[in-house]
Amino acid sequence: MYVKSLNHKIIRNNFKMTKKVKVLFVCLGNICRSPTAQAVFQYQLEQSALADYIDTDSCGTAAYHVGESPDKRAVQAAGKRNYAMQHLLGRQLAASDFFDFDYILAMDKENLGNILARKPLESLAHIGLFLDFDKSLEASEVPDPFYGRSDDFERVLDLIESASAALITYIRKH
Ligand code: 4NP
Repeated sequence: MYVKSLNHKIIRNNFKMTKKVKVLFVCLGNICRSPTAQAVFQYQLEQSALADYIDTDSCGTAAYHVGESPDKRAVQAAGKRNYAMQHLLGRQLAASDFFDFDYILAMDKENLGNILARKPLESLAHIGLFLDFDKSLEASEVPDPFYGRSDDFERVLDLIESASAALITYIRKH
């Protein structure tokens, strides 16, 4: 009985100690691409029953849209595919993100450069391009749709849907 209850305690403690994997998506303004990635990735986590094990968030390297809702065109395009993002609010990349997140994934090379320039030496986060997880894509960047047309927002969603599935496969394996 002693052994049994001891085992039980160990199992419970191990369970409690399991740390969630945390993924942060980063673009420039945090109103188009990265909130779209957060919404799509969250949806896919729920579909794969992984939402209890993986957390996601998004932010921008710039402060232009801090506290704002996502761009209406991005919300509309995502809504047509059943992704909810209207509840999200823009925020800027913070120093604490480098210690809070396991993966910090940029939408394009310019933002990746800005993230790396701010990375504290002690950060152990994996920092890279989001699309690099998806070997099926020829593109390595999610193009900025802010000055674009509605098909540019559809292209953003196509890339993000594909890369989110690839990222889930990668995290499951590692
Ligand atoms: P995002 O798009 O980086 O995908 O959120 C942009 C949003 C705002 C601006 C540029 C890109 N802006 O220049 O205000």
